[in-house]
Amino acid sequence: MARVSIGLTVNGQAVSAEVEPRMTLADFLRDELGLTGTKLGCEHGVCGACTVLIDGAAVRSCLMLAVQAEGADVLTIEGLSHNGLHPVQEAYWEHHGLQCGFCTPGMVLTAYAFLQERPDPSDEEIREALAGNLCRCTGYQNIVVAVRAAAEKLAGAR
Ligand code: FES
Ligand code: FES
Repeated sequence: MARVSIGLTVNGQAVSAEVEPRMTLADFLRDELGLTGTKLGCEHGVCGACTVLIDGAAVRSCLMLAVQAEGADVLTIEGLSHNGLHPVQEAYWEHHGLQCGFCTPGMVLTAYAFLQERPDPSDEEIREALAGNLCRCTGYQNIVVAVRAAAEKLAGAR
């Protein structure tokens, strides 16, 4: 299949590549760039494990083609943590918001994007914001606690 040239920014770095038009953004990030922090669960847009930020918005990278990211600014979990753990990650760690960790990169990026928009959310708003990210381990309670703690950390840092 003919390959297509794309150019985008990933975690602050300019990236150019030639990809098959059918390659998903998730596969591009993982297989071409080695950014395996982005997880693949369902590959059908259901679980949210593959969530990355595109121009600041949470997107399921299994549902997006790499060619559709032409010109975009992509943030993966590796980019969030390049200077040590981000406060959202610290909060997940401190409040046991993860067990196996498979859902965690998508959860953290979704929470990060949500807290940019809603810096002081209620627990109900946190649950609603994370409703599209499935976790098979935690029962969600500690995730909500962690996101609330992350909001407080970020407020303290402002
Ligand atoms: S792997 Fe993309 S939503 Fe499940
Ligand atoms: S911590 Fe295991 S799936 Fe969420």
